[in-house]
Amino acid sequence: MSLGRIAKLNTGASIPLVGLGTWQSKPDVVKHAVKVAIQAGYRHIDAAWIYGNEKEVGEAIRESNVPREELFVTTKLWNNSHRPEDVLPALESSLKNLGLDYVDLYLMHWPIAFKSGPEAVAKDAEGKIIFENVDINETYKAMEALVATGKTKAIGVSNFSVANLEKLLKTAKIVPAANQVELHPENPQWGLLEFCKSKGIHLTAYSPLGSTDSPLIKREEVTKIAQKHNSSNANVLIAWGAQRGTSVIPKSVTESRIISNFKDITLDEEDLKLLKSLTEGKATHRYCDPATFWGVKIFDD
Ligand SMILES: NC(=O)c1ccc[n+]([C@@H]2O[C@H](COP(=O)([O-])OP(=O)(O)OC[C@H]3O[C@@H](n4cnc5c(N)ncnc54)[C@H](OP(=O)(O)O)[C@@H]3O)[C@@H](O)[C@H]2O)c1
Repeated sequence: MSLGRIAKLNTGASIPLVGLGTWQSKPDVVKHAVKVAIQAGYRHIDAAWIYGNEKEVGEAIRESNVPREELFVTTKLWNNSHRPEDVLPALESSLKNLGLDYVDLYLMHWPIAFKSGPEAVAKDAEGKIIFENVDINETYKAMEALVATGKTKAIGVSNFSVANLEKLLKTAKIVPAANQVELHPENPQWGLLEFCKSKGIHLTAYSPLGSTDSPLIKREEVTKIAQKHNSSNANVLIAWGAQRGTSVIPKSVTESRIISNFKDITLDEEDLKLLKSLTEGKATHRYCDPATFWGVKIFDD
């Protein structure tokens, strides 16, 4: 079981490598999903203010009867709260939703600011997103002040490329503990992995199964490896991420999948070579790219 898969953050804290994702998990089912996960042994839960289900995620955590200090809970600062004065209230709002005194990791969800205010995604009369000119370094500086409040044990970022990390590190006083990005065999981001390793930034792999309806899972190469290990396709993809030393946060609201996704397998050299071949000499593929849904280019590739 994935209980033994743990990494150390640059804060000294431990982060379990396999966690439960909660994006698109509807509020009426996410509570059960988180409870099933914790019961199955998961100790890492990935949440975000924008997912609209922090309340139910928090209820499941509080009702799990697992001591709070044994769980690793992440949540994220949404794009409408990037102004420095909005950062602490945003964390407090998430903590209130979750019903927790602290989170283990608070991430800047995207390196981009939307108009500050109650609307998650403010739009103009033509339906275009209204952006706000707030520098990521300024937002991050306000996040650094959160650590002293004890309301988050660590801070980090999400969807940061090497270029954005380099920019951030020019003024950061606290090196981000983690960067949560899309990682799977079709988008392995080897350069980012190397860079983060060299800076002591832990990577967390989101959309490890290919996101909505898990298209990546169905690839014949993945099936071939799963059959060889008498395992599931999802376990192959989760093991791929964990063996690279990254956390992996597959989302599911299906009881049997939540339980089976937590089983460990070990991929061998031949398996890793086959998964590497998915991008060798071929284009990488993102399932979650704001260029398609916000019309904004965030990544370098
Ligand atoms: N930081 C960010 O910007 C960002 C962006 C995207 C995601 N994330 C985080 O990463 C988490 C995971 O990414 P994701 O939600 O995009 O997608 P994902 O985990 O790659 O895939 C989720 C999909 O896979 C299905 N699934 C799960 N286990 C399966 C199995 N064993 N067999 C077949 N299908 C399976 C799920 O269906 P059912 O639920 O119906 O079982 C769901 O449709 C998110 O939930 C979120 O916490 C963060």
